Amino acid sequence: MRVLETLLAAAAAAAAGASAATVSPRQAGTITVNLGQTFQRIDGFGFSLAFQRANLITNMSDKTKQKELLDLLFNRTTGAGFSIIRNGIGSTPNSNSDFMNTIAPNNPGGPNAPPQYVWDGKDSGQLWVTQQAVNLYGVKTVYANAWSAPGYMKTNGRDTNGGTLCGLPGAYCQSGDWRQAYANYLVQYIRYYAQSGVNITHLGFLNEPDYVASYASMQSNGQQAADFIRILHATLEREGLGGQVGITCCDSMGWGNNANMLNAIRSAGAEGLMSTVTSHTYTGGPNGAANYRNPVWLSEQCDLNGQWTTAWYQNGGAGEGLTWANHIYNAIVNNNVSGYLWWEGVQWPNPNTNEKLIRVDNTTNTYQVSRRVWAFANWSRYVRPGAVRVGTSGAPGGVRAAAFRNADGTVAVVAISSSGSAASVTIRLSGAGVSGASAVRAYVSDNTRNCENTPASVGADGSITGSVAARSITTFYILPA
Ligand SMILES: *[C@@H]1O[C@H](CO)[C@@H](O)[C@H](O)[C@H]1NC(C)=O
Ligand SMILES: *[C@@H]1O[C@H](CO)[C@@H](O)[C@H](O)[C@H]1NC(C)=O
Ligand SMILES: *[C@@H]1O[C@H](CO)[C@@H](O)[C@H](O)[C@H]1NC(C)=O
Ligand SMILES: *[C@@H]1O[C@H](CO)[C@@H](O)[C@H](O)[C@H]1NC(C)=O
Ligand SMILES: *[C@@H]1O[C@H](CO)[C@@H](O)[C@H](O)[C@H]1NC(C)=O
Ligand SMILES: *[C@@H]1O[C@H](CO)[C@@H](O)[C@H](O)[C@H]1NC(C)=O
Repeated sequence: MRVLETLLAAAAAAAAGASAATVSPRQAGTITVNLGQTFQRIDGFGFSLAFQRANLITNMSDKTKQKELLDLLFNRTTGAGFSIIRNGIGSTPNSNSDFMNTIAPNNPGGPNAPPQYVWDGKDSGQLWVTQQAVNLYGVKTVYANAWSAPGYMKTNGRDTNGGTLCGLPGAYCQSGDWRQAYANYLVQYIRYYAQSGVNITHLGFLNEPDYVASYASMQSNGQQAADFIRILHATLEREGLGGQVGITCCDSMGWGNNANMLNAIRSAGAEGLMSTVTSHTYTGGPNGAANYRNPVWLSEQCDLNGQWTTAWYQNGGAGEGLTWANHIYNAIVNNNVSGYLWWEGVQWPNPNTNEKLIRVDNTTNTYQVSRRVWAFANWSRYVRPGAVRVGTSGAPGGVRAAAFRNADGTVAVVAISSSGSAASVTIRLSGAGVSGASAVRAYVSDNTRNCENTPASVGADGSITGSVAARSITTFYILPA
């Protein structure tokens, strides 16, 4: 806290020297932050390393570039400051193509035979990147998510092309009931990570159970998910992992299917055995706060269709930075979301889409950073895990604001402008015994800037004066008085 105070005080002094006349705003307004009005807790912002994408960092032979990539993703000063990693738990017997290899490639002969686990210490490159994130950058939230069980545990005998876990209601297999074996297998994966110094905090046993893919995939309905959640929960408790690892569900393709599954899980009385609701948004996102008892993560989204772009704002295109700054705003402010995860952090140039945040070419050891990274940075660097969203009212025309109180007492106000002109803004902190700010630092991302310092100052009355640039995301990081 002391370090931060010094930092903020120095920044405020520097910013106070900058003249407010350097901007010529056409609009003005006051954002009042009510620290006494609290909403959801924030778990963080993240991305996935699944399907061997992690190897683009882990294998990077140019060590300077390797460190640059890690900094871009995890550094809170120079990068996005991501706080959640989503890893894929492999299900394939080999690493062909971009498949993720499993820790249990061989059928031991039946669900009750001793399993034959094999740990390669790599986990498709994910272990090394996760270790760097945890040990160097202090990332604490590690989500391990299985796309499928190993093939021999499923109705279709392979880990690809759908199929269902044997033993679930409606999923009979001659080989027997593999539910407990699958739960034990997931626990063993957690044990291997723990032995490597990484505590997995979130565990998902399904990915897109409503989609049959030619790669690793496994189907489930809500009743089947509830059945397995009971077994997995009991297994985690028995293994002493109940306090460390929470169960997520269901990473469906879109919100509608996920909601149907969650309703069935609730009806079956298993909602309380979960920690987190996880949904993708490919076939639709939420349109309002869902009254789930568990926090909601939008755990995978991206622009799958557009061509790779590094634009901040051109015409509001699906892959542009400002577009995603707004998507994140909608999720958090309008839909009670606690976690927001992009699909892949890094990926090679082919396909040349916006599935990734950073395009890494491992044939030339070069990379290109999309401005989506900076859209995330304005949230993720300053809105930290454990932050609570608080109330705001008022804002200049064309500006949307969201505010958060971090666990360390600092306040982050994120303002997004879709207006073509700058707006000057006054921010007042109130509520919860706070009546003003003692220091502020502001950062802006727009067409020309990536999270750069921008002037903001604290007046004698403790209110903050600053500016929200045209079509920008500007974050005010505030130390309350
Ligand atoms: C990374 O190295 C492994 C061997 O350790 C190799 O199988 C894999 O193809 C490599 N992947 C990339 C993206 O360089
Ligand atoms: C993050 O970046 C800053 C500024 O370059 C650097 O001093 C710091 O060491 C980096 N953090 C880590 C964990 O590498
Ligand atoms: C992981 O969990 C163990 C046991 O709960 C704990 O002792 C250890 O400090 C944790 N490690 C990290 C890096 O958080
Ligand atoms: C928002 O989510 C939290 C869990 O994170 C839940 O307790 C709360 O009831 C939700 N609020 C609304 C309005 O749905
Ligand atoms: C680049 O990545 C691809 C895909 O993983 C891999 O097959 C290839 O071996 C890698 N090339 C180099 C030079 O690492
Ligand atoms: C915030 O986003 C702006 C784009 O509006 C970017 O220029 C700036 O660097 C970002 N700031 C931070 C701290 O991420």
